[in-house]
Amino acid sequence: SQRTLVLLKPDAVRRGLIGEIIGRIERKAGWTIGALELRTLDLGTLEQHYAEHVGRPFYEPLMEFMASGPSVALVVEGERVVEGVRALAGPTDPIAAAPGSIRGDFGTIVRENLIHASDSPESAEREIKLFFPGLV
Ligand code: GTP
Ligand code: MG
Repeated sequence: SQRTLVLLKPDAVRRGLIGEIIGRIERKAGWTIGALELRTLDLGTLEQHYAEHVGRPFYEPLMEFMASGPSVALVVEGERVVEGVRALAGPTDPIAAAPGSIRGDFGTIVRENLIHASDSPESAEREIKLFFPGLV
């Protein structure tokens, strides 16, 4: 089995979509939630999380948005959860995301696209350490 790090971004929390999104994840047979926390992310954590995007034109507004209110961080465990949660989320740009995906159903603009999910098992382990340092 596998683990992935999921963030419900500040837009998802502000719009009351925590239950809706976690419900979609929980309904997948065999997937379980291994850790969960509501917290406003600090810039230090976000700088490490989004280090790959430093220098991109969207980086500063992305950091400001991600620190603008509480997010929900969770660890999801189960069969092929890394690709599976990204499939549930849909493509980064909500305009390109099909109905039935989280971003396709609720997304508005590319920066405020509701959810983050690790893009590989290696990213997942790094991100889980960053958000849940106490978790084994
Ligand atoms: P994450 O799961 O959040 O990492 O999204 P992703 O893997 O689908 O996208 P990526 O890692 O490429 O970008 C990280 C985040 O930066 C995205 O989720 C968006 O919130 C934002 N972002 C990415 N590309 C753009 C862009 O072209 N314009 C803007 N405004 N934001 C972007
Ligand atoms: Mg990404």
